[in-house]
Order: sequence, then C-alpha cells, then structure tokens
Amino acid sequence: MEDKKLVFSAIQPTGTFTLGNYIGAVRNWSPLQDEYNCLYCVADMHAITVKQDPTKLRQNSLAAYALLIACGIDPKKSILFIQSHVPTHALLNWVLCCNTQFGELSRMTQFKDKSQRHPDDINAGLFTYPSLMAADILAYNADFVPVGVDQKQHLELTRDIAQRFNQRYGDFFTLPEPLIFEVGAKIMSLQDPTKKMSKSDENPNACILILDDKDTIIRKFKRAVTDSEAVVAYREGKDGINNLMSIYSAVTGKDYASIESEFAGKGYGDFKLAVGEAVADNLAPIRTEFDRLMADKAYLKELYTEGAQKAFRISNKIVSKVYHKVGFVDR
Ligand code: TRP
Repeated sequence: MEDKKLVFSAIQPTGTFTLGNYIGAVRNWSPLQDEYNCLYCVADMHAITVKQDPTKLRQNSLAAYALLIACGIDPKKSILFIQSHVPTHALLNWVLCCNTQFGELSRMTQFKDKSQRHPDDINAGLFTYPSLMAADILAYNADFVPVGVDQKQHLELTRDIAQRFNQRYGDFFTLPEPLIFEVGAKIMSLQDPTKKMSKSDENPNACILILDDKDTIIRKFKRAVTDSEAVVAYREGKDGINNLMSIYSAVTGKDYASIESEFAGKGYGDFKLAVGEAVADNLAPIRTEFDRLMADKAYLKELYTEGAQKAFRISNKIVSKVYHKVGFVDR
C-alpha cells in the first residue's frame, strides 16, 4: 500500500440503500479513494445483531457489495470486502470487549433505541456491537472514518477503547477521527419530514431506494408532504420543502438561493417534478451498473475474495501484535 492516511468505513447490508444512505454516506466515499488508502466493508456480522432471514441476508450482502461498486467504489483502488470473510475482526473484538465497560455500552443511544424496538431479542451481540465496530476500525489502525451523525457516538467510544488499550498495554492504536459530511447529512422522510428517511418506514412513499425506477421516484416525490404556502424557500417551519430543497441541492449542486429563484412564481407541482427528475437521472447510472454486476456473480466473487485476502493481510499483522501485547503465547 502507498504511504497515505487510511480510511475505513462500513455499511450494513439491510436491503437496498436509501437515497439518504447514498447522499449522506456512500456517495462521499468514492472521492476519498485518491487521497487515502481506503477500506470499505459490508458489515454482515453487525447485521445479525437483529434477526435476519439467512437467505435474504446472503442476497443483501452480495447486493450491497455490488451497490458499493455501482456507487463508485473502485475495487482496484480501494479494498472492498465482506466483514465475515475476514476473521481478524472477530478475533480483535474479543480483546476489545474485555477493554470496554458495561456502563459505556449501556449509554449507547443506538442500543437503547434498538432494544426498545426489539424487546424480545436484546442479545449480547446487540449490546457489544460498538466493540465489534471498534475492532473493524482498529484492526487496520484507520486514521479517518466517514460516518453519519448517528454513528458519532460509536466512534467516540472506539477512541475511548483505543486510548484505554494504549494506556494499559503501551501506545499502539491510532485514535481514529470521524469524517462527517454536512451536505445531505440528514435526508428526511417524504411523508413526515420531521423523521429521518428510513427503509423500514411503513409507508413506501416515505423513502426513495436507490434502485427505484424513474416512474417510482417521480411518483414518490409527487406525493411528498409539503405545506400550503406554495413558495419554494428554505425557512424554518417548512420542513417538507426544506428537505426537498436539500435533496435537490445535493443532486444538482445548486445552492438554496439559486433554487429559490429557479422556482420563483412556480407551484410545488413543478418543483416536485424537477426534484424527482434530477434524483432519477442521478441514480439511473447506478442502477444500470448494479444490474450489470449482479448478472456476473463469478466476477463479483473474484472481487470480494481478493478484497478479503488483502484486508486479512493488513489486519492480521495488527491483530497478531495485539495478541502478543495482551500476553497470549505466540503461535
Ligand atoms: N455501525 C455502522 C452503521 O450501522 C456500520 C459499521 C460497522 C461501521 N462497522 C463500522 C461504520 C466501522 C464505520 C466504521 O452504519
């Protein structure tokens, strides 16, 4: 690997990505590939902290892998792999678990949310999820971690765990820094713009999936909740329009002032149609590339096999040193 700073990030393979995942996260990953050594991973081990249908999980993981490539991750530039293919993550996880406090894990808001949503399955994996995430990052001594705002708390915990390990066993881990992208950081539901856009929303019109076809995308935008003022302007109290404006801005690169003048004197119908078309045009090439990749499973397998080998080689060196540091007998 070239002598550059290292970036690590991962995404859970829970169905196809939403427009929010794309604009807020994945879209920002590909421009990092030139400046940094990047490792990106499909976090299937994190996914089973909530109940999964095994057949669907396998399909979703493969689809997520192909989608990352379709979104611009180049497997020749970056190391792109599936988490469960690289055993060092689980090996490091154990050591990190023993350096993470019950109290720290209890304070994680995602754990509190998810255990409320799945009261019948508050399993140990869900609880220790953040130390597996720390293992993902620290197994490579990553410098930067692009994450959404919702993962910031987990990243802070990663730093605390790394620091504690360094104090106990001598300086070893790099303290990773978050890379948080402001633009499109929060894409809201089209049906209730005070809530985050989510694929688990009961109303399918609330959420754009990046593999939706053009007609579906336009139909969903046409039904988006707005207000009765009929003025395209970014202002407090106009949550629906603000959300549409931030989506439009994210896919066209236009700022709010120029969007306001573009639609001055026009109705919401015109504006919603323009947003729908811009989003559909933006996503169309991703869908084409995704279909092409999914039609060639042998090629995908070649890519993820090679990705896992490279990831293992790097992380195995680091994890072997960790095992030595904590006092395990060298193999
Ligand atoms: N927990 C992250 C999420 O749900 C996914 C993830 C797993 C991750 N391991 C990671 C993100 C390591 C950044 C770094 O979005």
